[in-house]
Amino acid sequence: MNQKTVQNSQSLINSVRQIVDKKNATRDQKLKEISELLAEKIEVFDWVGFYLVDPDADRELVLGPYVGEETDHTRIPFGKGICGQAAETNETFVVQDVSKEENYLACSVHVKAEIVVPIKKNGEFVAELDIDSHTKDSLTDEHRKVLEQICENLSILF
Ligand code: SME
Repeated sequence: MNQKTVQNSQSLINSVRQIVDKKNATRDQKLKEISELLAEKIEVFDWVGFYLVDPDADRELVLGPYVGEETDHTRIPFGKGICGQAAETNETFVVQDVSKEENYLACSVHVKAEIVVPIKKNGEFVAELDIDSHTKDSLTDEHRKVLEQICENLSILF
């Protein structure tokens, strides 16, 4: 990882911390602002949003704040699609070419790659950060590392 990447990652993590620490904002406002920040700062991130565990349903995700095209997938059962698989395994799931993933829920024909990073509260899966890219093979190890650190900073919101 070069020096510039490290600095950029650190500044992104610091910006997320500042949003998380805001006093007069709701959780949804903070998640929306973080989605906007990531979509703006990282060129290959075209859809950025959150799915949250629905406490009133049986192992189901509900769409939270996001930026990007509207999606039909407002509720996703655990195990379904890339989002549902990440929910089930509680592990980051990176797909560099969605056309090769059989268990995939298409949101838009433009999407070519996707990463989903779990948010854990005391180790338990509570939500996830979902990012779509219109560029195949665009998701790097640095993206994964910075997103995992960001998600560690988000557990306090749940
Ligand atoms: N593609 C996801 C569905 C959510 S949209 O990307 C916003 C999936 O396969 O789970």
